[in-house]
Amino acid sequence: MNPRNVGEIPDADGVGTVGNPVCGDLMSVYIKVKDNKLAEVKFKTFGCGAAIATSSMITELATGKTIEEALKITRGHVADSLDGLPPIKMHCSNLAADALHAAIKDFQKKKEAKK
Ligand code: FES
Repeated sequence: MNPRNVGEIPDADGVGTVGNPVCGDLMSVYIKVKDNKLAEVKFKTFGCGAAIATSSMITELATGKTIEEALKITRGHVADSLDGLPPIKMHCSNLAADALHAAIKDFQKKKEAKK
């Protein structure tokens, strides 16, 4: 009901966008990295309420974490942090973890390219 960290980071270090094959909804996660930590995490989603809730949750779970810790946040963690989701909505929570991981991979790819 009260999503946090909604929006884009214009100069993001990594962006991950994933589509949900089940319903066609779309989510983007933006990250800003400082000293190997996620200094800022924001999201934009064109999805249902559960997708918004899980994206909001993942931005809170991931902010301040190191890259390695953030990569360990799984789909299950997100749903658990929200005290579970109805089975029919479980696929919605997959988007958030997948988009976060995609944003981190994007960041790592860009970092490699700069070397
Ligand atoms: Fe599409 Fe939930 S119904 S993300």
